[in-house]
Amino acid sequence: MAKEFKRIGVLTSGGDAPGMNAAIRSVVRSAISRGIEVMGIYCGYRGLIDNDMKLLTERDVSNILNHGGTMLYSDRCDKFKTQEGIDLAVENCKKNGIDGIVTLGGDGTFRGATDLSGNGIPCIGIPCTIDNDISATDYTIGYDTAKNTVIEMVDRLRDTCESHARCNVVEVMGRHAGYIPVECGIAIGATGIAIPELPFDKEKLINNLINLSHNGKRNFIVMVSEGMGKGFSAELTKEIEEKTGIETRLAVLAHVQRGGSPSCTDRVIATRMGYRAVEQLLAGRYNEVVCYRRGNIHISEMEYAFTFDRIVKGKATEEEIAAIEPALRAEMLERAESKKDYLVRLYNLAEKVSL
Ligand code: F6P
Repeated sequence: MAKEFKRIGVLTSGGDAPGMNAAIRSVVRSAISRGIEVMGIYCGYRGLIDNDMKLLTERDVSNILNHGGTMLYSDRCDKFKTQEGIDLAVENCKKNGIDGIVTLGGDGTFRGATDLSGNGIPCIGIPCTIDNDISATDYTIGYDTAKNTVIEMVDRLRDTCESHARCNVVEVMGRHAGYIPVECGIAIGATGIAIPELPFDKEKLINNLINLSHNGKRNFIVMVSEGMGKGFSAELTKEIEEKTGIETRLAVLAHVQRGGSPSCTDRVIATRMGYRAVEQLLAGRYNEVVCYRRGNIHISEMEYAFTFDRIVKGKATEEEIAAIEPALRAEMLERAESKKDYLVRLYNLAEKVSL
């Protein structure tokens, strides 16, 4: 029989993402409407260790839907990675009558959630990161808003590039995933894109810039993923200017991409995921991630989500892959392939229309 829930907790951990507040609001109100109390835990797992939490009412989450950041604040807590930290967190959950926790964040957050579940506190995850790099889901909260922010910023850069006949290298976030640079590259009409998943042909880009410039083009945007490594964008900026003669500037968009009012897509998906997370917990389903696939909510085992990520990032060993149940393994490999294929198709498309 499913455990009886009287009070659940909600926390946000890791890098914040626009839409986290919408998800918190949805979790709080979905639970309260089912007669369950909700404890807001501050600063992610640190709040569990430091006993920094408070009961939230439906009014406490009014007027947050449209705000970026997270009203519960966030943190990357090293102490929680130790058994001592986990023990303290579990003790505080028990002291505060917390029967289960909805955790909002990326893969680091879900690792923490698995540790808590393994120590007797049921957890369920909601994927929130602008990087969209959680393989089990098509979508992570914050991704759409971040892309719109990038587009807005780059449109502005293009205005000044056109006035001065310049090239702008734009470095964007996404950690090791190239979704933001590829999709935004298409959306802003980039002349070149560099992402870690695909080989980057620098000479081809430089020749293209020279030819386009001779052809009368005055503004050039080159999108670079931060995953290309430290110093890559600065080096590329210098080289483009030296080899093409086109004045070139670098813009590192950095954390501006993580802020701002969430888009409609982020608000809607966050609200759907928050509601479903509560439903899953109350139904006695733990250690799961509320995912999104082809427009529908899709539930994944947390362990499956981790392994999947390791496969996509090329980190899974042969033995690890062989240990997965064959039907699941086939599904994962096919999905990993189709994600890569998506990036390749978009990358090629961007190149074809960058005349
Ligand atoms: O995961 C979200 C993210 O913004 C990444 O895109 C980026 O690499 C990282 O977090 C930056 O982390 P921090 O906020 O610790 O500088």
